[in-house]
Amino acid sequence: MISVTIDSLTVEAGDGERLIDLINRTGSNVPQVCYHPQLGPIQTCDTCMVEVNGKLVRACATTVLAGMNVDTKTVAASAAQRQAFDKILGNHVLYCTVCDNNNGNCTIHNTTKLLAVEHQQTPYRPKPYEVDNSNPFYRYDPDQCILCGRCVEACQNVQVNETLSIRWEDPHPRVLWDGGSKIGESSCVSCGHCVTVCPCNALMEKTMLGHAGFLTALPKPALNGMIEAVKGVEPETGYGAITKISDAEEAMREQRIRRTKTVCTYCGVGCSFDVWTKDRHILKVEPGAGPANGISTCVKGKFAWDYVNSSDRLTKPLIREGDKFREAGWEEALSLVARRLAEIKAKNGADSIGLIASSKCTNEESYLMQKLARAVVGTHNIDNCSRYCQSPATMGLFRTVGYGGDSGSIADIEKASLVIIIGSNTAESHPVLATRVKRSHKLHGQKLIVADLREHEMARRADIFLHTKPGTDLIWLSAISRYLLDSGLAKNEFLNQWVNGLDDYRKSLEPFTLEFAAERCGLSVETLKKVAHLIAAEDRVCILWAMGVTQHSQGSDTSTAISNLLLVTGNYMRPGTGAYPLRGHNNVQGAGDTGSMPNELPGYQSVDDPEVRARFEAAWKVKLPSNPGLDNHEMVEAIQQGKLKAMYLFGEEMSLVDSNANYVADAFSKLEFFVVQDIFFSATCKFADVILPACPSLEKDGTFTSTERRIQRLYQVFEPIAGSRPDWRIIQDVANHLGAKWNYRHPSEIMDEIAALAPLFAGVSYERLEGYKSLQWPVAPDGSDQPLLYTKEFAFPDGKARLFPLSWMESPEQPDAEFDLHLNNGRLLEHFHEGNLTYRSEGIREKTPDTFVEVAPELAKERGIESGTWVQLTSRYGQVRVRALVTDRVQGKELYMPMNSSESPVNRLTSSHTDPVTHTPAYKELSIHLRVLPEVGENPLPRTNHRFGHPTPQRGVEVERKWQRADYVAPGRRHAPIQLQSTRGENNGSTDSA
Ligand code: SF4
Ligand code: SF4
Ligand code: SF4
Ligand code: FES
Repeated sequence: MISVTIDSLTVEAGDGERLIDLINRTGSNVPQVCYHPQLGPIQTCDTCMVEVNGKLVRACATTVLAGMNVDTKTVAASAAQRQAFDKILGNHVLYCTVCDNNNGNCTIHNTTKLLAVEHQQTPYRPKPYEVDNSNPFYRYDPDQCILCGRCVEACQNVQVNETLSIRWEDPHPRVLWDGGSKIGESSCVSCGHCVTVCPCNALMEKTMLGHAGFLTALPKPALNGMIEAVKGVEPETGYGAITKISDAEEAMREQRIRRTKTVCTYCGVGCSFDVWTKDRHILKVEPGAGPANGISTCVKGKFAWDYVNSSDRLTKPLIREGDKFREAGWEEALSLVARRLAEIKAKNGADSIGLIASSKCTNEESYLMQKLARAVVGTHNIDNCSRYCQSPATMGLFRTVGYGGDSGSIADIEKASLVIIIGSNTAESHPVLATRVKRSHKLHGQKLIVADLREHEMARRADIFLHTKPGTDLIWLSAISRYLLDSGLAKNEFLNQWVNGLDDYRKSLEPFTLEFAAERCGLSVETLKKVAHLIAAEDRVCILWAMGVTQHSQGSDTSTAISNLLLVTGNYMRPGTGAYPLRGHNNVQGAGDTGSMPNELPGYQSVDDPEVRARFEAAWKVKLPSNPGLDNHEMVEAIQQGKLKAMYLFGEEMSLVDSNANYVADAFSKLEFFVVQDIFFSATCKFADVILPACPSLEKDGTFTSTERRIQRLYQVFEPIAGSRPDWRIIQDVANHLGAKWNYRHPSEIMDEIAALAPLFAGVSYERLEGYKSLQWPVAPDGSDQPLLYTKEFAFPDGKARLFPLSWMESPEQPDAEFDLHLNNGRLLEHFHEGNLTYRSEGIREKTPDTFVEVAPELAKERGIESGTWVQLTSRYGQVRVRALVTDRVQGKELYMPMNSSESPVNRLTSSHTDPVTHTPAYKELSIHLRVLPEVGENPLPRTNHRFGHPTPQRGVEVERKWQRADYVAPGRRHAPIQLQSTRGENNGSTDSA
């Protein structure tokens, strides 16, 4: 800590602290229009001028030094602040009373009040551009744009989509998309960063427009009339009187606009934000305080919530009658469920029933579902969809380091000096997490290696892109480990102190020479050596991986090979290092954590451990079976064999997302009794006997656990729509109809029970998770958590990690003369999974209406395929009809099909091959035949899709170019131009520094 003086008061400051942050901390009121703490100094507005040791400087761009004497209110500083803000008003009309942004957080409105501006000297000059409404989610009004550049900084350096810029040399600068396209035809991915950080109403969510204010829905001519009237009275009344009226209107808004914190219901990054609502209308999503995301979101979290109020939500239980369903009351439906489950259990035993928990629903709901299975039905036949994606990664970590979760936080990934991404389309599947890598790579010298079949965005940004052959990651990873050990580049000290099993592991590496790897993986020995030396040279290495690794017949072994490599190179136990399997669903981590697995009770406690069972038996007052249950893959097999007769599933579209969908559908049609609980009539509902209408996340309280083991609370935004119930209530109702006497009144009571029974969550409580607070497990009884694992030791009894010997096997799914092409598959940025939620967003449908199959240009030429050509894809298991998209993201005989379709789901093609250790389907190992159909349709991606845009990367706002303008006057100076000097981020902020 150092001491400085601010307005004659001595204050303590952190070494390296920004002056503006210190001023804000001390409560001094200094205007700061362009400054946003998460963007850093942009220096475009000049309103934060203060005197430091007698010199005018920008407080946002000044680093505090010991002994500084800061004056924020001298005549010179005040005049400079006013002069700068007056210029800003030349770009913006203050019509706050009829502005949808007048909600207490408008920077322009608040600065007008702070500086008690009565009249502006700089006349307002409209800009010669139209309002741009071409994006379905937000609009840009150049006439209200103050050119602060926050949006540009956010797009260039936080989201790093590099769409936005300001051409400062233009006579009338404005914000540009792709250097001058319409928004709707640009590379904009609609992540919303720019809208979130805009300090005024220039960029606004369309859902706000006409809805936030009491007078803002007026017809345009009336609105313009009012704006003119306000401008007309201003010379006489001054802004003081006008802002009083708008303040009163804003206070009225406070009464009806609710702001409720929630956690994103899509991917596993765990973004959290406030949802602004007026009755059931969602005004906007406002991120800012989320520990994982700050101001960041992707298009889904920011804009894709229409499904919650969709008119086709299920609102009544449905009971099958022949081929049809009829509506029923809750009591009838619950009684029927209980009666049929009891009958089937009485006749065939408890193990003839299987339950599937949802990884989209809360921890508390997953816990109750497994408790229903175990304590009420009496079976361990319970699973969740982590089986389809994450179980192999968890297994790889269990084998080597002990905990089945990311070894650090997203903050560690940001800090790494080298990030390696394997089999993950991170920019589309985990968009906000990807922004942290893109930013560190762009601004902070982080290096990036990407291994994938496709040249997606992260691959294009990578320093080294390894285009590996399908299913060969285990080989190159092991070959690099061997090379490092053989050439003395391994971290021997770390291995000696912290790792067991080196000798057996080295023996297992025998076959993995660089030459073998080069041949099988399609890489050169030189490239492999380059990668090995880079890994050895870097101080902090993180490896990120996802379904491109796990959804293989050796998914567990490849995940293990990743962790082995991290151990060999000493990349555990320190900030900025470690293993990061990226969890797909919002709560897929939590669904496993809370025990929805056939072999483990909540907190990864084995069902075959008598001590563990005894603890749960005492708490639940039942006798638990000691044999593990069936996982979801085995349940499908058991149905086919006539052993599993009934199933109860909630919040999973299993008939489309399980591999070999035709086989799964066939199994479901054989069930004697099937209960499906969902918010929509899903494809899986078609097989049900009873359908129970549930609630989405915005209609309930609970917690989700994200990829970085972060447990966060979500608060109820809306009441459940009439007729539906939150899943935890329905599960309790089913349990009680089966004779249990549960009486949970709130999910917090369920969490208390989890904490009492699972040492991993011992200190978790709703109080400790209040608001934006979060905990990263393991959580000790005193509430201390572990953002970074293994700081003291590994999670094995002796505290040491274990190298795990591996061998490689050829995939059982091989191409032949008939099935000659390889089909890869995965997610698309705009859609989540099959699209049950995201297709209900009009804007997303407009941008991305359908799925497609990506075909490489050379293959397209060879087979006479154009973008839009219909093709039939046939595998050994099924077929689909889909349009082609010709793109160089894929090469040769490798195709890619996104999974966002219920009509042509890719899983009609995938096989029943699995990873033998976890039974995770080998979705990514697929040989197909392609037949070109005669029809040629539209390009499956409309021209308005961001993939056709042309980004304009630059360092940021590039404010130096503004300072070069002939009409630029530095505040405190009378004449233009003066030369200012700036380094990005931290100069001394002085306007005298030239
Ligand atoms: S990508 Fe689009 S929505 Fe996201 S910050 Fe850039 S311009 Fe804004
Ligand atoms: S649109 Fe961009 S430059 Fe204009 S006011 Fe908003 S954030 Fe600032
Ligand atoms: S989908 Fe993922 S990245 Fe996008 S807002 Fe939600 S949690 Fe964040
Ligand atoms: S806050 Fe805009 S220049 Fe400092």
